[in-house]
Amino acid sequence: MNSFMRSIGSLSFIWLVLAVSAAAQPSSSSPAPVLDSAGSPLKAGVEYYINPAITDNGGRFTLINRNGLCPLYVGQENVSGLEGFPVIFTPFAEGETVIRESRDLKIVFSASTTCVQSTAWKLGEKDAESGRRLIVTGESQSQQRPTSNYFKIVKAEVGDNIYNIQWCPTEVCPICRFDCGTAGGLVENGKRLFALDGSVLPVTFERRA
Ligand SMILES: *[C@@H]1O[C@H](CO)[C@@H](O)[C@H](O)[C@H]1NC(C)=O
Repeated sequence: MNSFMRSIGSLSFIWLVLAVSAAAQPSSSSPAPVLDSAGSPLKAGVEYYINPAITDNGGRFTLINRNGLCPLYVGQENVSGLEGFPVIFTPFAEGETVIRESRDLKIVFSASTTCVQSTAWKLGEKDAESGRRLIVTGESQSQQRPTSNYFKIVKAEVGDNIYNIQWCPTEVCPICRFDCGTAGGLVENGKRLFALDGSVLPVTFERRA
């Protein structure tokens, strides 16, 4: 009887140790999922429209013909209510099906164009006038370290389900040192481009119906 009681006692002690160590697991191994405008976690391979989170800041994200040439640029419709193009997110981490905050991912417009370049978002050249780095479409030249094609979605400081888009591909290249940046709108000749190194545009993600 006594030894039975003792084993019950040591069993519950083991349970306590297990429970405490489970609670002490760092949560950083799995960052919070990014949520769409309906509050559901974003999924890889599903189409989402990107919308500005604040009014009077253009419309949905779309492909912009900047100067009549290819490649096309990442930007926005001039006003809300227009269709735009949805995007598909692909995490850098293999086998990951949920889009999580601050993880490297590829963003590709779900659209076909007359340009030969892919519709993947890519860090582009510096705009001569503003000095801001533009976001363009196309594949990175580097097969090994395609850092220019990887972005991160980070939680905006205010508001529910509102995020910023950053370029800082530290998962693709942990030993690289990047001049990281957060993206925002840049109006050029009435066209709304998306660029780093200036104003920041918070966005929301709307699952395509
Ligand atoms: C927005 O307006 C400008 C100027 O009228 C035009 O050149 C541009 O094509 C428009 N953008 C879109 C995405 O339709």
